[in-house]
Amino acid sequence: MEVIILENADAVAQLGARRICELIKKKPNAVLGLATGSTQIAMYQHLIRLYRERQVSFRSVTSFNLDEYIGINPENPQSYRSFMKRELFDAIDIDRENTHLPACENNVNPRKAGSAYERQIAAAGGIDLQVLGIGSNGHIGFNEPTSSLVSRTRVKTLTETTVTDNSRLFKEGEFQPHLAMTMGIATILDARRAILLATGEQKAQAVKDAIEGPIAAMCPASALQLHERATFILDRAAASKLQNTAYYQWVHSENTPLVEKYGNFYEIDG
Ligand code: F6R
Repeated sequence: MEVIILENADAVAQLGARRICELIKKKPNAVLGLATGSTQIAMYQHLIRLYRERQVSFRSVTSFNLDEYIGINPENPQSYRSFMKRELFDAIDIDRENTHLPACENNVNPRKAGSAYERQIAAAGGIDLQVLGIGSNGHIGFNEPTSSLVSRTRVKTLTETTVTDNSRLFKEGEFQPHLAMTMGIATILDARRAILLATGEQKAQAVKDAIEGPIAAMCPASALQLHERATFILDRAAASKLQNTAYYQWVHSENTPLVEKYGNFYEIDG
């Protein structure tokens, strides 16, 4: 695991966007795993800037989002399809046909919808880089605490913590879904690379549990300890409860000349 601690939230967003661009430059038809949420909005703004500066093109990129609400249709402004359209897709040159979100329409068996999404990911060649945020309860995607560490795309019931955390985005009286279709933890671990972005003090405990705690279903993000190429990109506030901060910073400074000489692990084939 690579742990990178940066000065502030903007630096986290910038590095996240840069990592995506590095990959696309190397592999123009990369398959990206994308996330929604406030942390990602800042990162998408940097991606859009890089696109406008002509530093990257998404023309041949394919994307698979982690999750989508159940109970509202994709045209609803609160859906994650609408979020992605608004925050990223409408501002870049990605082919809409190549953008995927897990969907489970009314009257569709969720088990069938989940395995169909897994097949679509496999048919695209698997995910090259999965971008993640983290919930204050340690969730990744909508894999809430107690999610199976070998889970696949399926329906999850959101916890009260998640519903409360996300209620800031819903107007009073507006329907807030409490079910979602989400990639599973095994689906996430299958990605060839993973980056998790976390900012703000409200994420500090979850980040500590994920990086320095035991691998446990109570903190789904801790499953990333099993991933060969996972990077946590944190601001100081999100890293504030980590115990081994000095070590992570030392590793980072030791790695810098190696990266300059040999390239970072994003440049390794495969
Ligand atoms: C949503 C998702 C979630 C969020 C997490 C953090 O697609 O994957 O796991 O990344 O809830 O959300 P923010 O960034 O809003 O704190």
